[in-house]
Amino acid sequence: MDFSIKTIDAKSTFNAIKTGCVVVGVYENKKLSAAAAGLDKQGQIAAALKAGDITGKPGSTLLLRNVGDIAAERVLLVGLGEESVAVADKTFTLASQVIARTLAGLGANDVVMALPAVKDRDSGWALRTAVLAFRESIFRADGLKSKKEASVSNVKKVAFAVAAAEGAAAKNALAQSIALANGMDLTKELGNLPPNICTPTYLATTAKKLAADYKMGVEILDRKQLQALKMGSFLSVTNGSVEPPKFIVLKHLGGKTKDAPTVLVGKGITFDTGGISLKPGANMDEMKYDMGGAASVLGTMRAIGEMKLKLNVIAVIPTCENMPSGSATRPGDIVTSMSGQTIEILNTDAEGRLILCDALTYVERFKPAAVVDVATLTGACVTALGHHNSGLFTRHDDAHDALANELLAAGKQTGDTAWRMPIEESYNEQLKSNFADMANIGGPAGGSITAACFLERYTKKYTWAHLDIAGTAWKSGPAKGSTGRPVPLLTTFLINRAG
Ligand code: BES
Ligand code: MN
Ligand code: ZN
Repeated sequence: MDFSIKTIDAKSTFNAIKTGCVVVGVYENKKLSAAAAGLDKQGQIAAALKAGDITGKPGSTLLLRNVGDIAAERVLLVGLGEESVAVADKTFTLASQVIARTLAGLGANDVVMALPAVKDRDSGWALRTAVLAFRESIFRADGLKSKKEASVSNVKKVAFAVAAAEGAAAKNALAQSIALANGMDLTKELGNLPPNICTPTYLATTAKKLAADYKMGVEILDRKQLQALKMGSFLSVTNGSVEPPKFIVLKHLGGKTKDAPTVLVGKGITFDTGGISLKPGANMDEMKYDMGGAASVLGTMRAIGEMKLKLNVIAVIPTCENMPSGSATRPGDIVTSMSGQTIEILNTDAEGRLILCDALTYVERFKPAAVVDVATLTGACVTALGHHNSGLFTRHDDAHDALANELLAAGKQTGDTAWRMPIEESYNEQLKSNFADMANIGGPAGGSITAACFLERYTKKYTWAHLDIAGTAWKSGPAKGSTGRPVPLLTTFLINRAG
């Protein structure tokens, strides 16, 4: 699907555009948007509204052909709710999804869509929302089916109509939106791939490809090198697995040489059986998405690579499987992390924090401006926040409040939201061990918080935030699959940082 910007001025009016379909808004109470009114020289749109053929409610649609003497073959009307100088953001998001779905079932090959003003959002926001809706509507996960699903949409070209004065800004916003969509697609593909294909080695190969495509630096550490680094915690998780572990370091150095990098750390468990603390069998297949943190970090790197973002960003991904076997780590085993802190592994299913803690120690060497780890870390986070918000954890001082606010704001900007959770001394008591510096679990109460408290002990040397995406990276049910989250949040966070 090709996207472009079409500038509209007095000379090239909407009515003269030759296209398969123009998309314009209408409101409730039978009111036309400015774009619709401009097309409606002979009153057919007004008449259709008056007759009740479309309510104008958010997401309602009506297709008309042969409207007046306009050059477009079809006009797709879409409801934008109550009349206002600017429509609500939720309404426009819904309208975009409905437009993409409706157009997929029509004969038009190229379409031109008017972008309405959206309340408290700029035109770049509207553009991104529409692009992401179109791209989501054509995303398919049938790469491994022997017979592909029929063509997903006839639409090959989408042009967004904007005022001539906004043309340059819109082109820029469009390029960013496409890069973001491409990043999300990579994240979704990786998350959906089966664990026999998407292995740690596969993730490492993907990182190498990104490095080649976008001129990034890449380094893949293998078991021997991880042993030399004394990553005893990470390595303990791989004990039961035949697949070799990998430790991926991918560098996008788009900023000034002297600028401290922003570091993203992604949990890359390519399959989580729970290990000896084996998970129940039902829906265990879904634990292939336990590399959702890694996938979103790689997707974000793809997006900022394509954007040529002027910022230093380093992605670090510890990746392995969590399998049971005769050589697997036992509950009760005590391991020594790279930081020197010892850990009593009371439950081998709390493995995410065991691979992340060594990665969090490793990244100290970069003297980071900030570190954000991203992980499908706890079922408890899904219980706490459901599937709407990712859990956001940081310490509670000024520097960390500022970082938390950057991440929360990036979430709100893109609808890929996070919700802040506490990290406090009182929760830390739950991690006490009689035999080691800490246990790897803190009991059932506040499980997502004690997991964050565990990670916090490895992040004392820099400003750090943790995103628990267990509830947001994936959807279960009939449309099961990866969501591409939190790539919009992370990418926007980095764009904002680049200034
Ligand atoms: N990968 C899981 C967390 C998870 C659960 C992600 C459900 C997505 C959906 C993690 O490794 C895990 O198993 N966590 C345990 C921790 C517990 C043993 C303290 C959990 O959440 O049950
Ligand atoms: Mn687990
Ligand atoms: Zn896990």
